[in-house]
Amino acid sequence: MHLLVFILISVVLFGCQQDEQSMNEVKNKQASVDDKEEMEVNEQEQVDQPEEQQQEETDKEEETETTNQETNENNNETTNNGLTVVDNPDSIEVFVNKQRKLPDGWNPKNLVVPNVPFYFDENLPKKQMRQEAATALEQLFQAAEEEGLALVAASGYRSYERQKTIYEHNVNTNGQAHADQFSAKPGTSEHQTGLAMDVTTAEVAFALEQSFKQTNEGSWLAENAHQFGFIIRYPEGKSDITGYAYEPWHLRYVGTEIAQEIYERSITLEEYFGFGY
Ligand code: DAL
Ligand code: ZN
Repeated sequence: MHLLVFILISVVLFGCQQDEQSMNEVKNKQASVDDKEEMEVNEQEQVDQPEEQQQEETDKEEETETTNQETNENNNETTNNGLTVVDNPDSIEVFVNKQRKLPDGWNPKNLVVPNVPFYFDENLPKKQMRQEAATALEQLFQAAEEEGLALVAASGYRSYERQKTIYEHNVNTNGQAHADQFSAKPGTSEHQTGLAMDVTTAEVAFALEQSFKQTNEGSWLAENAHQFGFIIRYPEGKSDITGYAYEPWHLRYVGTEIAQEIYERSITLEEYFGFGY
């Protein structure tokens, strides 16, 4: 009888412990939904690989590319490892997402540093944007300032290698499923196009988190960015279409005409291009 009571108590206690563990997991997951898109990874912290290993990897990549590359019949886009390779990377209308990548080795031309406040002083590559987008960003920041708002830029251009470091860091820290909700695989990030800029403000301690939308700066941005040719690329409630969690801080330059239409119709870039996710 005593033994039976002991077993019963043990089973109940074990069950409670398990529940607590699951709750903690949920809490941790929730906290990391608010993770900054990339600020945890120090820009100088590039992973140094031995030269030999790097060469081996490049060889492997090239081998895979030749085997899996196909040309689409209806346009100049090709398919590489199941992803479409965009044929207009230099255009401001370039459309990348989880299914559409930039050509290997492609880099934007005309990168400049916009004359806007950043949350850091160092002259890092992430301050840059393509010339046309940089000029538009300056005008956007100026208009916000005239309304008494203080937008602060956080992260613009990222190289393929930099995005690879960030993505891998996020996978190692949060797990792949979670990382894939807010971090693009290298070659598929708008940051690599030079047309994106993450923006924030002092009220959220310059973090890239969803509460930015509740600040005056965040809500002004959502209602006015299109006038300067920018869209909130990953809007709230559209994750099933964009493939990413809501990012009120991620601005993408597409030019005023497209931005205006996307804003008025409350759609995503996917929907604008008639792309079924
Ligand atoms: N946070 C966006 C999806 C990126 O990593 O490009
Ligand atoms: Zn971003």
